[in-house]
Amino acid sequence: MRLSPRLKMLADMVDDGAVVADVGTDHAYLPLYLLSTGKCPSAVASDLREGPLMNAVANAAASGLTDRITMRISDGLDAVMPDDADCFIFAGMGGNLIVDILSKADWICDGTKSFIFQPMTHAETVRAYLLSLGFRIVKENACFDECKPYIAFKAVYDPTYKRKYKKSYVWMGDLDKVGNDAAAYYLTKQYTYLKKRADALEFAKLLPDEVRAIREILPDIEPHIRKIRKD
Ligand SMILES: C[S@@+](CC[C@H](N)C(=O)[O-])C[C@H]1O[C@@H](n2cnc3c(N)ncnc32)[C@H](O)[C@@H]1O
Repeated sequence: MRLSPRLKMLADMVDDGAVVADVGTDHAYLPLYLLSTGKCPSAVASDLREGPLMNAVANAAASGLTDRITMRISDGLDAVMPDDADCFIFAGMGGNLIVDILSKADWICDGTKSFIFQPMTHAETVRAYLLSLGFRIVKENACFDECKPYIAFKAVYDPTYKRKYKKSYVWMGDLDKVGNDAAAYYLTKQYTYLKKRADALEFAKLLPDEVRAIREILPDIEPHIRKIRKD
């Protein structure tokens, strides 16, 4: 079974032997890959809608993995329980939806569980929410998939971890240390978005506090921006 570069990046973040729950699984390619490679002994795959879950059921049957994967209809974590898995994956969803899902499950603040996120938008909202709860991001990566950049991070609840985060952290995480072209491309996109926003607000004489906050962040991102070819 072959995975797209985006899903492979997530598979590589899963610890050997972990039981995973893939929330918003759709086709279940990721948990089925983790089972087929022997990296994970069993998995839960959930989705809000029946249609995607039917794809997952069909793919599990075609892979001969039905007995190692539990399929569940669930709005976010409503029907996914803490005891279901060691590692909970949220991939291919917007950052606002991910935060909405997390905010309805207070059990996530459990240092024995890990969480992998691959937000399609608003990663900064997910990072800010995790930090506000006392999580720390333990792994980050970025990749290109069909010429589009994707980022992912893995977080664990660890309120004892002391790090003085700069205001830019929610926008860039530790992607400056990842060092690949996809991370640089993503940081360049973040820089461009923030700079355009600050310039437009300033021109319109609006939200001066936000303009000031963005101007404080930009110098942290600027050294990491580059022109990248995506192909
Ligand atoms: C773009 S697909 C991502 C599929 C897969 N995780 C991936 O990364 O390739 C998003 C999936 O999330 C599901 N979804 C949307 N809102 C959800 C929610 N509140 N709870 C669970 N699943 C949800 C959708 O039905 C859809 O199948």
